[in-house]
Amino acid sequence: MKFSVTSGNPAKQGGSCLVVGVFADQSLSAAAQQVDKASDGALSRWLERGDLSGKLGQAQVLYDLSGLRSERVVVIGCGKTQELDARRYRQIISHTARTLLDIRVSQATVYLTTLAVKDRDEIWNVRQAAEGMMAASYQFVQCKSQSDAPPPALTELTLGVSRRKTLPEAEQAAAQAQAIGLGVALARDLGNLPGNRCTPSDLASQAEALAKQYEPIKTTVLDEDALTKLGAGALLSVGRGSREPTRMLVMEYRNGPKKQAPIVLIGKGITFDTGGISIKPSAAMDEMKFDMCGAASVFGTLKACAELQLPLNVIGIVAAAENMPDGRATKPGDIITSLSGQTIEVLNTDAEGRLVLCDALTYCERFEPAVVIDIATLTGACVIALGNHPHGVFSNTDELAQALLEAGEQSFDRGWPLPLWDDYQEALDSNFADFANVGGREGGAITAACFLARFAKKLRWAHLDIAGTAWLTGKQKGATGRPVPLLTQYLINQIAAD
Ligand code: BES
Ligand code: MN
Ligand code: ZN
Repeated sequence: MKFSVTSGNPAKQGGSCLVVGVFADQSLSAAAQQVDKASDGALSRWLERGDLSGKLGQAQVLYDLSGLRSERVVVIGCGKTQELDARRYRQIISHTARTLLDIRVSQATVYLTTLAVKDRDEIWNVRQAAEGMMAASYQFVQCKSQSDAPPPALTELTLGVSRRKTLPEAEQAAAQAQAIGLGVALARDLGNLPGNRCTPSDLASQAEALAKQYEPIKTTVLDEDALTKLGAGALLSVGRGSREPTRMLVMEYRNGPKKQAPIVLIGKGITFDTGGISIKPSAAMDEMKFDMCGAASVFGTLKACAELQLPLNVIGIVAAAENMPDGRATKPGDIITSLSGQTIEVLNTDAEGRLVLCDALTYCERFEPAVVIDIATLTGACVIALGNHPHGVFSNTDELAQALLEAGEQSFDRGWPLPLWDDYQEALDSNFADFANVGGREGGAITAACFLARFAKKLRWAHLDIAGTAWLTGKQKGATGRPVPLLTQYLINQIAAD
């Protein structure tokens, strides 16, 4: 989708479609007032007839208004003026997107960006509108033999701002949205692919493709021989039951000062999680194809980063394996030796995410990173604790946790903090190895994070548990592409902080 910005009078905008807002108290937004004036009170007349309720999400398409250069006007209900907050703004944008996609216009000029949103400014509105439109026009059709849905018609979007002065900043916001939108789409594509079309080797090809596409990215793939030589016994133990070979992918995006310590992003890349010998019940097991969404978010964030040519060094590491039961699979009670040298009693083979991540955490020490963030669909317990709205945020460094929470607020891809206290560590005690890979049902998201913390002692590290946020279930089943917006925002903020 092509974006542009404008500060002109809506009545003077040509093109297929103008979008303005009306509130529940029947008042017109500033842009709607301008349209009303130019069209000799047309909107006021529609209001009088009761056709524009202003209810949040209500959409009315009006044709042939006099005095305007645009072919049609879409009036969107924005609810109550005082209630218009970030969340409701995003709902308004998503209703708008659905309407524009339904009426199949190829171009639209949207003035909802000039609405007053609680605690946000027009620049934020622009970025969210552009991101929201891209997200709404996403389709996953690559596995259909024939697509019944035609591709979206909407390809050009102009976003309005009130003052000329804000145009350059609005342009930058649109460019960020474009990059984030592409990153989110990549993460959704990879997440939505089924286990048989997205194996660890397929992820390796993706990593190589990214390096081909973007000059600053260099990809290294570690195969099972390399991982054995290295001693990545925890990662390898997870893939033992699978015919699909395990891989570790290292994507180095180097576009910052040579000496600048890199930011490392580590993604859980379980391309399918049956649970292994501790096998999962079959209900909804298909959704365990999404168990590589952490990895997908690393790909997506690197793509956004490369699109924006951020002057940073960022290294993406993906620990990729398929967790299957088999005669050779790791069994409950097996003791494995991690890359760190620490031994682990595998009491539950379904707690495999932490096993692939712990070796990646140790591996990344060699890059002497400034910070390390892992992203993982790690625990069902996180979904119980927080539901489907925020990611669980853990960190051994308070400033890092703060920076991630802040980036989440800014991008509205929010996280929520959970404790990493040592009090939880004893749940992992083992009679036979250094510690176990599970700590019982209580505080399961936290004990999982505590397990990882044992491998991050030398690192400024954070962990995002995205088990509740990486995909939607039910009728709208599909990957969300989260937390690409949060991570990209965090990276953007690191430039500003320098
Ligand atoms: N991939 C799952 C976590 C998961 C489950 C995410 C359901 C989203 C929805 C992970 O590998 C897992 O199986 N975790 C276990 C850990 C337990 C055995 C300690 C879990 O959460 O049940
Ligand atoms: Mn599992
Ligand atoms: Zn898993």
